[in-house]
Amino acid sequence: MTHLTRLSNAIGFRTRIVGALAVVVLALASVAARRVGLPVPATTRVSQGGPALTKLPDGYRDWSLISVAAVGSPLSDLRAKLGNAVAMSAFRAGKIPFPDGTIIARLAWKQMTSQETNDALQRGVTGKLSPDAIQKLLAGSFVAGAPTNVQVMVKDSKRWASTGGWGFAQFTDGKPDTGVQAGERLPVLSTCFACHAPAKGHDFVFSTYAP
Ligand code: HEC
Repeated sequence: MTHLTRLSNAIGFRTRIVGALAVVVLALASVAARRVGLPVPATTRVSQGGPALTKLPDGYRDWSLISVAAVGSPLSDLRAKLGNAVAMSAFRAGKIPFPDGTIIARLAWKQMTSQETNDALQRGVTGKLSPDAIQKLLAGSFVAGAPTNVQVMVKDSKRWASTGGWGFAQFTDGKPDTGVQAGERLPVLSTCFACHAPAKGHDFVFSTYAP
């Protein structure tokens, strides 16, 4: 056996020992967590990393518009993304990462068909579009119906260091949602960072400023 192979065997052995120890420590930690009733960590369960946000940010409804979005069936909603002053300066300047103090609120409403709006649209396009095309136009036209929930992201790189510096929260009727929502498997706050993680390249935020 050459000196080199002996060395690499020794390193390989040490790596295996360290690996085995890590597995044992993780297994013990998960048993201990289960015993005290704590959630057991898993890659699909990235929970809120820091203190919970229990209250909607003051004045958020008057913030400026970043952008809008719509999500199809079965959610069938319309969304507005609003930002506080810190968020707006960063969005307009394309500044990434977002500075501490950034707050983004995502408001959402059910898509609602408005008879009055559709009647007006129909009058406007009759004779210009085929009846089929008019039907399509009307079927895809919505106004904001009942509000669903408000989701919030607050940037504080120290408080929420383990979730990219973002605190995540969701509010229905102004009250914080924390548990497992109807029709879901995981507690709502454990899903936020996991789904936003692929947007790491733009600081975990999907929206861009719509000029
Ligand atoms: C299934 C993936 C998914 C989950 C789960 C999710 N989000 Fe998002 N989120 C998105 C996508 C995609 C957008 C951009 C489109 C939009 O606004 O709907 C977004 C947008 C946002 C925005 C506007 C800023 C941005 O990134 O564009 C906020 C705020 C937000 N989400 C908060 C939350 C919170 C809080 C939770 C957990 C309660 C959550 N999200 C869970 C995918 C997700």
